Amino acid sequence: MQLRNLALTSALCATTVLASVTNVYPNVIQTGPSNALYVSGASGLDGPKMSPGINATTFDWWYFDAVSTNGNAAVVMVFYLSTDLGFSFVPPLSALSVDIFATFDDGSLVFLPLNNLPYTAGQATVVTDGDGASGNWQGTGFSFEGSPDLSTYKVTVDSPVLAIKGTLELTSRAPAHYPCGPNEAGQRLDVSPNVGWANAMPDADAVADFTVLGRPLKFTGIGYHDKNWGDKPFTTHVSSWYWGHGRLGPYSIVWFDVLGKDGTEYFSSYAAKDGVIVATQCGPGSIKVRPTGKNSQYPPKITSGNPEGLHIDLDLGAEGMLRVNVTAHSVLADAFLYYRASGLLVGGVDGGPQYTGVSVYEEFKLQF
Ligand SMILES: *[C@@H]1O[C@H](CO)[C@@H](O)[C@H](O)[C@H]1NC(C)=O
Ligand SMILES: *[C@@H]1O[C@H](CO)[C@@H](O)[C@H](O)[C@H]1NC(C)=O
Repeated sequence: MQLRNLALTSALCATTVLASVTNVYPNVIQTGPSNALYVSGASGLDGPKMSPGINATTFDWWYFDAVSTNGNAAVVMVFYLSTDLGFSFVPPLSALSVDIFATFDDGSLVFLPLNNLPYTAGQATVVTDGDGASGNWQGTGFSFEGSPDLSTYKVTVDSPVLAIKGTLELTSRAPAHYPCGPNEAGQRLDVSPNVGWANAMPDADAVADFTVLGRPLKFTGIGYHDKNWGDKPFTTHVSSWYWGHGRLGPYSIVWFDVLGKDGTEYFSSYAAKDGVIVATQCGPGSIKVRPTGKNSQYPPKITSGNPEGLHIDLDLGAEGMLRVNVTAHSVLADAFLYYRASGLLVGGVDGGPQYTGVSVYEEFKLQF
């Protein structure tokens, strides 16, 4: 069905001249260079960024999440073009994989990775149309479909192997952006050295409707979609990072605060108010994210526990400083070097009204 849709899209585009681009990725390790795009073009925000594809040490992935309005339930799905050398958190023996993290209302967590063992079955297809992308990881039952203007995405899962079936539908609430600015040509795309980032949906209204291992996972809340890519193994140059997104009253916010193994801290801030961008910047002073409460050692080490919360200072320029406290709520993934949680937000601009909200955030800690 998905294949027929893709074929139909290509056929329609061919006749209307507005060509979509189709990339096919076989499940084999390519040899030779795999080059990263680090400057934006006029379109293709969510398209593949490694060409001609990935090799053993590079990666390109598409990430989707949603959390219920009360922060209890969540779903995260990631579509990877990567070997476990490029990104050590994917299953071995495959260049293509997907994973899903499902957190139910009662806090129970299911993590299910799926690859195409062993470098044989299946291939991935990504069709880029306008700024949007649609992907089908054949043989896994996972696919996603994006609109050319990034207004809607739909992730579909039909995996008898994992006993998961359902959809995540996202309707955008805030404009797309890059690490240092809005969605326009000529923007730099590296959020830290050797890591690219394009944020197609900083905030979205989400409807999740899944059955996971016989249990319903159905909720409405806030959603998000972005992609990362890179031309060096992830763990060789990232020391730690805090990333997250949330909705706080009228604000849609996204934070990125990375400590490189070069000892330099890299920053990217984003805030939209009522769907209009008020901040999208990089560089020192744009944003600062620090762990708070229990286990708030900074920089975090591999042996540090998961922090109780975060504090974020996000510079809105003329509007002032947005100060936000994040309190960990539900654990969405906990893998020693990696932690993801839903968080409850409280904060606002100095002197202005204080708001509450919900978020999804993560921490990598890769340094002893
Ligand atoms: C993959 O491509 C990158 C970037 O061109 C290159 O530096 C690296 O050596 C390549 N890796 C392999 C294993 O060929
Ligand atoms: C954020 O946390 C700090 C430290 O606990 C506290 O002083 C401050 O009042 C909190 N801000 C809000 C808006 O709750």
